Amino acid sequence: MIVNILLYVVLPIATAIYIYFNRKFNHFKERGIPHFKPSFPLGNMQGIGTKYHSIDIIKNVYDEFKGKDVIAGLYNLNQAFYVVTDAELVKNILVRDFNNFVNRGMYVNEEGEPLTGHLFAVRDEKWKFLRNKLSPAFTSGKMKAMYYTISDKGKDYVSLFDAALEKSKTLDIKNFTSRYTIDVVSSVAFGMESNTLKGQNDELLVIFKELFGEEASRNFFKFFFMSAFPEISKKLHLKLFSQKISQYFINVIGKNIENREITNDNRPDFLNMLIQLKNKGSIDGEFSKENKKITLNEAMAQTFVFFFAGADSSSTAIAFALAELAHNTEAQNKLRAEILEKTKGKENEDINYETLQEMTYLNQVVNETLRMYTINSLLLRQANEDYKIPNSNHVIPKKANIIIPMVGFHYDDRYWKNPEKFDPERFTPEEIAKRPNHVYLPFGDGMRNCIGMRYGLLIVKFAIATTLRNYKLKLNPKMKYPIKLDPKNPLLEPEGGFHLDLERI
Ligand code: HEM
Repeated sequence: MIVNILLYVVLPIATAIYIYFNRKFNHFKERGIPHFKPSFPLGNMQGIGTKYHSIDIIKNVYDEFKGKDVIAGLYNLNQAFYVVTDAELVKNILVRDFNNFVNRGMYVNEEGEPLTGHLFAVRDEKWKFLRNKLSPAFTSGKMKAMYYTISDKGKDYVSLFDAALEKSKTLDIKNFTSRYTIDVVSSVAFGMESNTLKGQNDELLVIFKELFGEEASRNFFKFFFMSAFPEISKKLHLKLFSQKISQYFINVIGKNIENREITNDNRPDFLNMLIQLKNKGSIDGEFSKENKKITLNEAMAQTFVFFFAGADSSSTAIAFALAELAHNTEAQNKLRAEILEKTKGKENEDINYETLQEMTYLNQVVNETLRMYTINSLLLRQANEDYKIPNSNHVIPKKANIIIPMVGFHYDDRYWKNPEKFDPERFTPEEIAKRPNHVYLPFGDGMRNCIGMRYGLLIVKFAIATTLRNYKLKLNPKMKYPIKLDPKNPLLEPEGGFHLDLERI
């Protein structure tokens, strides 16, 4: 009996799977595209999440094939990804030939899971519609109006540090930067004063950890599976987000929209602008080509993505910047001197919106942090049609997934001398002018770049400036330098966490 099962069931299935994978694994060989030899079943992703971070794998492909060809192959399980290794091709895909690369190839199921219908994931006409509607919410005028929340939460941020320092001088700073960005982004995106800095709202912290903490590792594979097999995923009723996460956001956002409508609360924040788009099809005072309204579900999905895309990225950037400054005393002192100089004589010596724009060294520090710790280490695009790569014999086939490995470009020693070194001097105007375009893109580029870049930069700069003005920083010996990323966390987190010693100034 067992022999029969092996012979007539297990063996044919195993053979079919093997043949299927083998056929898939011939994709790049048949097209003459350089790649590392894949192996069953993970393709080129052997060791991911245990020995290697996904960044190590992508960087390895980039480093091996850069300068040899403009594109290389990578098998993520059985899925073929085209990895761009040439700056000119990056420009062509993101900017010049954008119309052929509008989508990211991500999973969307608006009927079955409304939160997946957000700007980051939606495709083609739907994306164009939403991006046109949402862009006026991110102008400098709107950013300035929303700056109040950033500086207001800054007071709670400092109070929390002060209270913690009474118990210990060594702090896990990510715990502070996360609470800060959660409080800012949840306030402007879904109108919730979450006050995690004041020790309230544990539920949102739990949700945040589920979205971005260790549980995110399991979701990472689910995300790839569902993006690779969207139709099967829909049939199987798979959900990208847990019931807890979906319900939480739908309830909170839905309730807050209702409250604002009843009370006629007109705060100048993202939530109000989304309500205006839902009720009138345009944002007050902004020109709109057509007045088609967005639906309640669309409004909810966008508030969710502002939180999803904005909160962790900003807090991670702040934490890495502070860790690097803690290690690099010279840069820390130089930046503190700039902050003190620019705020001197200002009302309450506040770090206001204008002052922040004047801090050029702060800008350099943030740029260098995002080079070394590129929060979105890769940009994703999908080809709408076959694409003949200019000045090359290769063709990127229709529907192919493309990776633009920014993490590779950001460490390429052809563009960055001694790339492992934290050196904000790389970002003086003279040094920038020496580099080709498109080798530094922490916020992506082209029409589908980061819509929240300006707001993200304000949050990050304000938090760094506030921390440095109030505290001297040193790395605690618990935190090893150079910082090594934790391979078990698909996001960017140092092995062992962030541990800094703070001293009140
Ligand atoms: C330091 C902070 C941030 C970093 C490093 C960052 C980085 C990025 C990157 C690399 C992309 C992909 C761009 C591309 O594919 O070309 C992106 C897209 C996006 N980001 Fe950000 N981001 C940050 C903050 C924010 C904030 C604060 C928000 C919202 C308020 C936001 C909302 C979005 C959205 C909605 C998209 C998708 C845009 C589209 O597809 O049209 N991001 N971000």
